[in-house]
Amino acid sequence: MAADMDDHALTGERAIPGAPFGWEVRVDLGAQLDAPTREALTRIWQRDGLILFRGQQLDKTRQMDACEIFGPVQRDAIDNFIVSNVVDGGLLGNAELLFHNDIPYVPAPYIGGSLYAIDVASQGAPPTCFASALRAWERLPPALQQRLEQLKALHVRGRMLGRRTTLADLEPEDPCCVHPVMGRQQGTGRPYLFVNMDMTAQFTTLGLAESDALLEELFGYLYAPGEIYEHYWQPGDLIVWDNLAVQHARSAFGEAPRTLQRVSLARLGYWEQVPNDLPVFRAMQEM
Ligand SMILES: [Fe+2]
Repeated sequence: MAADMDDHALTGERAIPGAPFGWEVRVDLGAQLDAPTREALTRIWQRDGLILFRGQQLDKTRQMDACEIFGPVQRDAIDNFIVSNVVDGGLLGNAELLFHNDIPYVPAPYIGGSLYAIDVASQGAPPTCFASALRAWERLPPALQQRLEQLKALHVRGRMLGRRTTLADLEPEDPCCVHPVMGRQQGTGRPYLFVNMDMTAQFTTLGLAESDALLEELFGYLYAPGEIYEHYWQPGDLIVWDNLAVQHARSAFGEAPRTLQRVSLARLGYWEQVPNDLPVFRAMQEM
């Protein structure tokens, strides 16, 4: 309790109004933050795996520095980029992105993600949606939790728009990786559910029909009505989230400008884990 009171004195945190989870703090990331404030921010981040700062002014380097409060940051271009439908070189366009963890198909997926709103239209730009895999795990029946503790799932590179990528969709050199279905949150050890509706292909020890049925059942917990936080961006917003314990998504949209600056928290960068990913390498060269 004492630490909670100190955290509030240092950060002015409050639960994000109207959101099922996540915390908003009043901290200027342009200032030098002392160690107690940085530690308080880390504790608040770990409560739900999502923290919101408003009214920031961050170039990419400052955003990287801010993210290092929460974990290691890789400074490679492929791990940190502009998400935009209007800026030259911006990635991810305006298509729908189903709920996912970023790069679950490598041995060490990103620890966290962050998005900083550079320029977002006040009308017509979709929210980024977040779902808590910590809360999903807590709501599972105990018998299902026990079953899932024994299971692992194969995650694959997302190839499909609008539906989950399956084994049948893969090309021979697509990266893929097996992870336990129950993860544990870094720093707290709390369990979370690690399957997602975009890139989890199949449980390793179940047949396809049984696997698909179990995934659908789990998606019902992960993406249940009332459990999704929809963040409508205002310029100057920064959200940092735990990429393993929290998933993100967005709907398709039109021409409304939407430019976000992305920085990733990671122990290992993408190239360190998939050095032979030539299609991605070539695409980056052409940007
Ligand atoms: Fe993503």
